[in-house]
Amino acid sequence: MSRLFDAAARKALFTFDPEIAHGLSIAALKSGLVPGCRNDGDPRLTLELAGLTFPNPLGIAAGYDKNAEVAGPLARLGFGFVEVGTVTPRPQEGNPKPRIFRLPEDRAVINRLGFNNKGHEAALENLSRSTRSGLLGINIGANKDAADRIGDYVEGLRAFAKVADYFTVNVSSPNTPGLRNLQSREALAELLGRVLSERATRAPKTPVFLKIAPDLADADLDDIAEECLSHPLDGLIISNTTLSRDGLAETRAKSESGGLSGRPLFLGSTIVLAKMRQRLGTATPLIGVGGIDSAETAAEKIRAGADLVQLYTGFIYGGPMLPSRILKGLSKICDKEQIARLGDIRDSRTAHYASLPSGA
Ligand code: FNR
Repeated sequence: MSRLFDAAARKALFTFDPEIAHGLSIAALKSGLVPGCRNDGDPRLTLELAGLTFPNPLGIAAGYDKNAEVAGPLARLGFGFVEVGTVTPRPQEGNPKPRIFRLPEDRAVINRLGFNNKGHEAALENLSRSTRSGLLGINIGANKDAADRIGDYVEGLRAFAKVADYFTVNVSSPNTPGLRNLQSREALAELLGRVLSERATRAPKTPVFLKIAPDLADADLDDIAEECLSHPLDGLIISNTTLSRDGLAETRAKSESGGLSGRPLFLGSTIVLAKMRQRLGTATPLIGVGGIDSAETAAEKIRAGADLVQLYTGFIYGGPMLPSRILKGLSKICDKEQIARLGDIRDSRTAHYASLPSGA
């Protein structure tokens, strides 16, 4: 039944341009037209991480709910945590349209949105009007024309200090020129220094995660790991979209510029995740993102080293009942493996993925 509902929803939405379809899906969630899902709340899927209690390890990644309009309805679909944003201090239009492209043969998407969003104030207003349910992450970024980009992240932390359950510092979007340079050693040291000292005064208990790109060489991963360990950062989100076009079907959309997400990103983002697990040790919280569209792919991210996982593109192709299907599938994996907690499978395949060459 849920598959039928999802297939019908996808068929209807795919007749529209991707950005219009996205707007329609947000409107449907807002209106309550999409049925919520009853989840039994399998205790084997809950986990405590960075001082928070996650009802399950599956979250919706940033970019779907850029303006924090539907955090409640997303939680009711089963997501254990909802990350909204990226939000920038001032509203911005983003890049010219069209700027989202479907690659159905690859179950992938290319986007070059460029942080289109209505700014801090609008997101705060949306959050104040909605009923809270579930854990809320705020993904913060910088305006394209900011004079002090790092200052924009500090402002984000200050603005959402009272409402965020956690923050994500996003330095890995490929669609804001120069943004990814904030991942370089010196820039990252300054960014983390300033953001985390603001956190110490404004929201000392709120975890801060850093979201990184998948297109990083081993030496870059060494630098990021060292900066991570020398600051009171709470963990990493791995990864954002990729600039790689390896292994895609020959379609016109393939040559569009922007970040690629979905199935083709799974391996590359999982390799970087495993390499970071090895560099950071077992205690650092890691959130694995990229190409998850089933319970098996979610479990494989955990085997590679993730504590929690997120998805976005899988939701576009899989439909609104996907989170519920994934959670049921994760419970079945616990049955099959006869484990008391899903987290028991973590790191069982870290060495395998970490031994593979990363795409950068
Ligand atoms: C994204 N992503 C993203 N990430 C982020 O940190 N801030 C953002 O604003 C956006 N915006 C965005 C828009 C669109 C249309 C897509 C498809 C993706 C990246 C997203 O959160 C995630 O890291 C990647 O898409 C990889 O996961 P999936 O999509 O393969 O599950």
